[in-house]
Amino acid sequence: MHTSQPSERERLERAAADVRRFSDRVPKVALVLGSGLGAWADTLEDRVVIPFGDITGMPQSGVAGHAGNLVLGTAEGVSVVTMQGRVHMYEGHPPDDVVFGLRLMLHLGAKTVFITNAAGGIGDHLDVGDLMLIEDQLNLTGKNPLVGPNDDQMGPRFVDMTTPFDVELRHLAAEGAKALGFDVKRGVYVGVLGPSYETPAEIRMYRTLGGDAVGMSTVLEVVAARHMGARVLGISCITNKAAGLGHETLTHADVQEVAERVRERFVALLGAVLRRLL
Ligand code: HPA
Repeated sequence: MHTSQPSERERLERAAADVRRFSDRVPKVALVLGSGLGAWADTLEDRVVIPFGDITGMPQSGVAGHAGNLVLGTAEGVSVVTMQGRVHMYEGHPPDDVVFGLRLMLHLGAKTVFITNAAGGIGDHLDVGDLMLIEDQLNLTGKNPLVGPNDDQMGPRFVDMTTPFDVELRHLAAEGAKALGFDVKRGVYVGVLGPSYETPAEIRMYRTLGGDAVGMSTVLEVVAARHMGARVLGISCITNKAAGLGHETLTHADVQEVAERVRERFVALLGAVLRRLL
Protein backbone atom coordinates (compact mmCIF):
# COMPACT_ATOMS: atom_id res chain seq x y z
CA MET A 1 0.00 0.00 0.00
CA HIS A 2 1.38 3.39 -0.92
CA THR A 3 0.07 6.59 0.61
CA SER A 4 1.43 10.13 0.72
CA GLN A 5 0.96 10.19 4.51
CA PRO A 6 4.14 9.45 6.48
CA SER A 7 4.00 6.20 8.45
CA GLU A 8 3.69 6.48 12.20
CA ARG A 9 7.37 5.58 12.57
CA GLU A 10 8.44 8.23 10.04
CA ARG A 11 6.37 10.72 11.98
CA LEU A 12 8.11 9.64 15.21
CA GLU A 13 11.56 9.79 13.65
CA ARG A 14 10.95 13.33 12.41
CA ALA A 15 9.71 14.42 15.83
CA ALA A 16 12.64 12.72 17.59
CA ALA A 17 15.08 14.50 15.25
CA ASP A 18 13.53 17.82 16.33
CA VAL A 19 13.89 16.87 20.01
CA ARG A 20 17.54 15.91 19.41
CA ARG A 21 18.31 19.45 18.27
CA PHE A 22 17.58 20.49 21.87
CA SER A 23 18.88 17.53 23.89
CA ASP A 24 20.66 14.21 23.40
CA ARG A 25 19.47 12.87 26.75
CA VAL A 26 18.30 9.24 26.65
CA PRO A 27 15.53 9.06 29.26
CA LYS A 28 14.96 5.97 31.34
CA VAL A 29 11.42 6.79 32.45
CA ALA A 30 8.62 8.57 30.59
CA LEU A 31 5.88 10.19 32.65
CA VAL A 32 2.38 11.01 31.42
CA LEU A 33 1.01 13.21 34.18
CA GLY A 34 -2.67 13.86 34.80
CA SER A 35 -4.59 16.82 36.15
CA GLY A 36 -2.58 19.10 38.40
CA LEU A 37 0.76 17.31 38.14
CA GLY A 38 2.17 19.10 35.09
CA ALA A 39 4.05 21.60 37.24
CA TRP A 40 6.19 18.71 38.54
CA ALA A 41 8.22 19.05 35.33
CA ASP A 42 9.36 22.49 36.53
CA THR A 43 11.22 20.77 39.38
CA LEU A 44 13.45 18.59 37.17
CA GLU A 45 17.22 19.15 37.32
CA ASP A 46 19.19 19.97 34.15
CA ARG A 47 15.86 20.69 32.53
CA VAL A 48 15.43 21.13 28.79
CA VAL A 49 12.00 22.49 27.84
CA ILE A 50 10.85 21.99 24.25
CA PRO A 51 7.58 23.64 23.16
CA PHE A 52 5.31 21.19 21.34
CA GLY A 53 5.24 23.73 18.49
CA ASP A 54 8.95 23.02 17.85
CA ILE A 55 8.30 19.29 17.44
CA THR A 56 7.02 18.33 13.98
CA GLY A 57 3.77 16.42 14.15
CA MET A 58 3.22 16.89 17.88
CA PRO A 59 -0.51 17.32 18.49
CA GLN A 60 -1.45 20.36 20.51
CA SER A 61 -4.42 21.00 22.72
CA GLY A 62 -6.79 23.53 21.28
CA VAL A 63 -7.00 25.45 24.55
CA ALA A 64 -5.18 28.79 24.24
CA GLY A 65 -2.26 29.15 26.62
CA HIS A 66 -2.01 25.40 27.10
CA ALA A 67 0.17 24.65 24.10
CA GLY A 68 2.38 22.32 26.10
CA ASN A 69 6.03 21.32 26.38
CA LEU A 70 8.13 18.22 26.29
CA VAL A 71 10.50 18.39 29.25
CA LEU A 72 13.66 16.31 29.70
CA GLY A 73 15.71 16.25 32.89
CA THR A 74 16.70 14.37 36.02
CA ALA A 75 14.49 13.50 38.99
CA GLU A 76 15.82 11.60 42.02
CA GLY A 77 18.93 10.83 39.98
CA VAL A 78 16.91 9.20 37.18
CA SER A 79 16.88 10.49 33.62
CA VAL A 80 13.26 11.26 32.70
CA VAL A 81 11.08 12.82 30.04
CA THR A 82 7.57 14.15 30.53
CA MET A 83 4.89 16.18 28.84
CA GLN A 84 3.27 19.34 30.12
CA GLY A 85 -0.07 19.11 28.38
CA ARG A 86 -1.77 16.07 26.97
CA VAL A 87 -4.47 15.68 24.35
CA HIS A 88 -7.59 13.63 24.95
CA MET A 89 -9.96 11.86 22.64
CA TYR A 90 -12.87 13.93 23.92
CA GLU A 91 -11.23 17.00 22.38
CA GLY A 92 -11.66 15.33 19.01
CA HIS A 93 -8.14 13.96 18.61
CA PRO A 94 -7.77 10.59 16.86
CA PRO A 95 -6.20 7.72 18.85
CA ASP A 96 -2.83 8.08 17.04
CA ASP A 97 -2.59 11.68 18.23
CA VAL A 98 -3.64 10.81 21.77
CA VAL A 99 -0.70 8.40 22.11
CA PHE A 100 1.83 10.31 19.96
CA GLY A 101 3.58 12.05 22.86
CA LEU A 102 3.96 8.78 24.73
CA ARG A 103 5.29 7.01 21.64
CA LEU A 104 7.77 9.83 21.11
CA MET A 105 9.04 9.54 24.69
CA LEU A 106 9.53 5.78 24.20
CA HIS A 107 11.20 6.39 20.85
CA LEU A 108 13.69 8.64 22.69
CA GLY A 109 14.72 5.59 24.71
CA ALA A 110 12.45 5.31 27.74
CA LYS A 111 11.55 1.70 28.59
CA THR A 112 9.40 2.46 31.63
CA VAL A 113 6.26 4.59 31.72
CA PHE A 114 4.45 6.17 34.65
CA ILE A 115 0.89 7.18 33.77
CA THR A 116 -1.24 9.14 36.20
CA ASN A 117 -4.79 10.39 36.05
CA ALA A 118 -7.72 11.71 38.00
CA ALA A 119 -10.58 9.26 38.35
CA GLY A 120 -13.98 8.82 39.93
CA GLY A 121 -14.11 6.09 42.58
CA ILE A 122 -16.54 3.22 42.03
CA GLY A 123 -15.18 0.57 44.41
CA ASP A 124 -16.41 0.76 48.01
CA HIS A 125 -12.80 0.56 49.17
CA LEU A 126 -11.98 3.90 47.51
CA ASP A 127 -12.27 7.27 49.24
CA VAL A 128 -11.85 10.75 47.82
CA GLY A 129 -8.17 11.66 48.00
CA ASP A 130 -6.92 8.06 47.72
CA LEU A 131 -4.18 7.03 45.33
CA MET A 132 -4.99 3.79 43.50
CA LEU A 133 -2.38 1.58 41.84
CA ILE A 134 -3.97 0.40 38.62
CA GLU A 135 -3.92 -3.40 38.41
CA ASP A 136 -5.82 -3.78 35.15
CA GLN A 137 -7.97 -1.75 32.79
CA LEU A 138 -11.21 -1.85 30.84
CA ASN A 139 -10.87 0.04 27.57
CA LEU A 140 -14.46 1.17 26.97
CA THR A 141 -13.55 3.99 24.59
CA GLY A 142 -14.39 1.84 21.58
CA LYS A 143 -11.02 2.86 20.11
CA ASN A 144 -7.57 1.31 19.86
CA PRO A 145 -4.40 3.16 18.79
CA LEU A 146 -3.12 0.05 16.98
CA VAL A 147 -5.92 -0.02 14.39
CA GLY A 148 -4.45 0.34 10.90
CA PRO A 149 -1.30 -1.02 9.31
CA ASN A 150 1.14 -2.43 11.88
CA ASP A 151 4.79 -1.45 11.86
CA ASP A 152 6.56 -4.65 12.92
CA GLN A 153 9.64 -2.63 13.93
CA MET A 154 7.57 -0.79 16.52
CA GLY A 155 5.78 -3.80 17.93
CA PRO A 156 3.72 -6.89 17.13
CA ARG A 157 0.41 -6.86 15.25
CA PHE A 158 -1.38 -8.63 18.10
CA VAL A 159 -0.26 -7.33 21.47
CA ASP A 160 -0.43 -9.45 24.60
CA MET A 161 -2.34 -7.55 27.29
CA THR A 162 -2.21 -10.22 30.01
CA THR A 163 -0.09 -7.95 32.22
CA PRO A 164 -0.89 -4.39 31.16
CA PHE A 165 0.55 -2.95 34.39
CA ASP A 166 3.93 -4.13 35.65
CA VAL A 167 3.80 -6.15 38.87
CA GLU A 168 7.25 -5.12 40.08
CA LEU A 169 6.61 -1.41 39.56
CA ARG A 170 3.37 -1.74 41.50
CA HIS A 171 5.29 -3.44 44.29
CA LEU A 172 7.87 -0.60 44.33
CA ALA A 173 5.04 1.95 44.50
CA ALA A 174 3.38 0.16 47.42
CA GLU A 175 6.75 -0.01 49.18
CA GLY A 176 7.37 3.67 48.47
CA ALA A 177 3.99 4.69 49.84
CA LYS A 178 4.57 2.65 52.99
CA ALA A 179 7.94 4.32 53.52
CA LEU A 180 6.24 7.71 53.11
CA GLY A 181 3.64 6.71 55.70
CA PHE A 182 0.46 6.38 53.69
CA ASP A 183 -1.59 3.59 52.16
CA VAL A 184 -2.29 3.06 48.49
CA LYS A 185 -5.34 1.28 47.18
CA ARG A 186 -5.51 -1.04 44.16
CA GLY A 187 -8.08 -1.52 41.46
CA VAL A 188 -9.24 -1.72 37.87
CA TYR A 189 -9.39 1.51 35.84
CA VAL A 190 -12.26 1.98 33.41
CA GLY A 191 -11.32 4.23 30.49
CA VAL A 192 -14.23 6.00 28.79
CA LEU A 193 -14.46 8.57 26.01
CA GLY A 194 -16.11 11.46 27.90
CA PRO A 195 -16.37 14.41 28.03
CA SER A 196 -19.67 14.11 29.86
CA TYR A 197 -19.36 12.43 33.21
CA GLU A 198 -21.13 9.10 33.63
CA THR A 199 -24.74 8.50 34.57
CA PRO A 200 -25.48 6.53 37.75
CA ALA A 201 -26.69 3.62 35.56
CA GLU A 202 -23.39 3.60 33.69
CA ILE A 203 -21.51 3.52 36.98
CA ARG A 204 -23.62 0.55 38.15
CA MET A 205 -22.74 -1.18 34.86
CA TYR A 206 -19.01 -0.49 35.25
CA ARG A 207 -19.13 -1.85 38.79
CA THR A 208 -20.79 -5.03 37.53
CA LEU A 209 -18.09 -5.30 34.88
CA GLY A 210 -15.37 -5.21 37.54
CA GLY A 211 -14.35 -1.56 37.39
CA ASP A 212 -13.09 0.28 40.49
CA ALA A 213 -12.39 3.75 39.10
CA VAL A 214 -13.39 5.62 35.95
CA GLY A 215 -11.69 8.30 33.89
CA MET A 216 -11.23 9.73 30.41
CA SER A 217 -7.58 8.95 29.68
CA THR A 218 -4.81 6.39 30.08
CA VAL A 219 -6.21 3.23 28.44
CA LEU A 220 -5.01 4.04 24.90
CA GLU A 221 -1.57 5.06 26.15
CA VAL A 222 -1.27 1.76 28.02
CA VAL A 223 -2.06 -0.19 24.84
CA ALA A 224 0.52 1.86 22.86
CA ALA A 225 3.14 1.41 25.60
CA ARG A 226 2.66 -2.36 25.71
CA HIS A 227 2.84 -2.47 21.90
CA MET A 228 6.31 -0.89 22.13
CA GLY A 229 7.33 -3.24 24.96
CA ALA A 230 7.50 -0.66 27.75
CA ARG A 231 6.53 -1.56 31.30
CA VAL A 232 3.81 0.56 32.82
CA LEU A 233 3.00 1.93 36.25
CA GLY A 234 -0.48 3.46 36.43
CA ILE A 235 -1.76 5.50 39.35
CA SER A 236 -5.17 7.12 39.72
CA CYS A 237 -5.95 9.96 42.08
CA ILE A 238 -9.52 9.38 43.27
CA THR A 239 -10.90 12.91 43.04
CA ASN A 240 -14.57 12.12 43.60
CA LYS A 241 -17.09 9.39 44.17
CA ALA A 242 -18.38 8.31 40.76
CA ALA A 243 -21.84 9.51 39.66
CA GLY A 244 -24.67 8.38 41.90
CA LEU A 245 -22.35 7.20 44.69
CA GLY A 246 -21.77 10.57 46.29
CA HIS A 247 -24.20 13.24 47.31
CA GLU A 248 -23.17 15.89 44.88
CA THR A 249 -23.09 16.63 41.19
CA LEU A 250 -19.72 16.33 39.47
CA THR A 251 -17.74 19.37 38.42
CA HIS A 252 -14.31 19.72 36.88
CA ALA A 253 -13.52 22.38 39.49
CA ASP A 254 -14.06 19.86 42.31
CA VAL A 255 -11.91 17.30 40.49
CA GLN A 256 -9.12 19.88 40.13
CA GLU A 257 -9.40 20.96 43.74
CA VAL A 258 -8.94 17.43 45.08
CA ALA A 259 -6.13 16.73 42.57
CA GLU A 260 -4.40 19.86 43.86
CA ARG A 261 -4.87 18.76 47.47
CA VAL A 262 -3.34 15.32 46.78
CA ARG A 263 -0.55 16.66 44.57
CA GLU A 264 2.19 16.73 47.19
CA ARG A 265 1.58 13.11 48.20
CA PHE A 266 1.32 12.05 44.57
CA VAL A 267 4.63 13.72 43.65
CA ALA A 268 6.32 12.21 46.71
CA LEU A 269 5.14 8.77 45.61
CA LEU A 270 6.48 9.23 42.07
CA GLY A 271 9.81 10.29 43.57
CA ALA A 272 9.86 7.26 45.86
CA VAL A 273 9.35 4.92 42.90
CA LEU A 274 12.03 6.68 40.84
CA ARG A 275 14.53 6.32 43.70
CA ARG A 276 13.79 2.62 43.84
CA LEU A 277 14.62 2.29 40.14
CA LEU A 278 18.22 3.46 40.64
N1 HPA B 1 -15.57 10.26 35.69
C1 HPA B 1 -14.77 10.39 34.60
N2 HPA B 1 -13.60 11.01 34.63
C2 HPA B 1 -13.21 11.54 35.81
C3 HPA B 1 -13.99 11.45 36.97
C4 HPA B 1 -15.24 10.77 36.91
O1 HPA B 1 -15.99 10.65 37.90
N3 HPA B 1 -13.30 12.07 37.97
C5 HPA B 1 -12.15 12.52 37.42
N4 HPA B 1 -12.08 12.20 36.12
